[in-house]
Amino acid sequence: MRNSRILGVGHYVPERVVTNEDLAVSMDTSDEWIQQRTGIRERHFSDGSTGAADLGAEAAREALARAGMRAEDMDCIVFATLSPDVDMPASACLFQDHLGIGGMPAFDVRNQCSGFLYGLATADKFVKTGTYDHVLLVGGEIHSTGLDLTTRGREVAVIFGDGAGAVVLGPETDARRGILSTHLHSEGKFADKLWVECPSSRERPRFTEEMIVGDKPRMFPRMEGRYVFRHAVTRFPEVIHEALQANGYTPQDIDLLIPHQANLRISQIVASGLELPEEKVFNNIQRYGNTTAGSIPIALYEALEAGRIHEGDLVCLAAFGAGFTWASALIRW
Ligand code: ACO
Repeated sequence: MRNSRILGVGHYVPERVVTNEDLAVSMDTSDEWIQQRTGIRERHFSDGSTGAADLGAEAAREALARAGMRAEDMDCIVFATLSPDVDMPASACLFQDHLGIGGMPAFDVRNQCSGFLYGLATADKFVKTGTYDHVLLVGGEIHSTGLDLTTRGREVAVIFGDGAGAVVLGPETDARRGILSTHLHSEGKFADKLWVECPSSRERPRFTEEMIVGDKPRMFPRMEGRYVFRHAVTRFPEVIHEALQANGYTPQDIDLLIPHQANLRISQIVASGLELPEEKVFNNIQRYGNTTAGSIPIALYEALEAGRIHEGDLVCLAAFGAGFTWASALIRW
């Protein structure tokens, strides 16, 4: 069996920058509160009728160029998102059309902040087993059109931003290099701790006016922030240790940890628990907020651009999010 390897990484965020001060115009919040609790200074919001597939296509073009490949060379498309362009079909299909390609399989992965790593685990298996040679994996989100940007929704709204990242995966014959292992977990009993309840196939009809009014409208994301926080700081280290142990490593062997960008405080607590110095952890939530499925590939792109990853480095990716779901991947670059 062969390994898979990341051949190229790309990213894209919409041009419009929304600062904490900008948010404070429509809701009762402050730059100080947001930075203290989350580390976030600004995020990017899309305009017009831009969908997750549009952002994904821009990121994918860059990833393909860096891999020296064409879109039509891809054997499979995996699109991770919690904010699909439309209810059906999959954003992966719309994305495929944006790139002007077709014929190869394309499907969505709906696993929120762990979505990119669920997608990576899937794409990796396709390459490892020889099912496909080249898989294009994208994580892309438009949060801005689904947030309650009033004081009512402030706990959630200040956290999220729009953005996408993409990687091209190909075969690696050296078993000591490339994606060494992936680790996935989920626990559905916590689904209502962080969710968007409506529109819902359980409701008749699926969409009613009641869903958009009241103190806690059910069509906006709702989160028990502290509850999520407590689980995140436990599950992150757990799943990182799992990846290290599976490959006979310890935290000291990590050259760079790229955690899903949920909250700077979460990343700092995780890093300190693993006794990782600042230079071994990559964070960019300050400029993007939480871009969910886009967050890890955007961070990976920036880490490479900043020269924080060298050939032969041990890179650990880890995520935790709604579901709850959590996941990790260990890569020998
Ligand atoms: N601006 C100002 N005040 C606010 C805001 C805001 N944006 N939001 C909440 N507050 C208020 C609250 O109303 C509360 O006021 P009260 O004390 O009068 O009741 C006070 O600030 C403190 O609120 P807490 O909820 O205790 O704040 P906390 O320190 O827990 O921070 C936060 C909130 C940032 C949301 C934190 O809990 C967190 O990061 N949770 C985890 C988020 C996460 O990791 N999500 C998972 C990934 S997302 C995904 O999977 C899609």
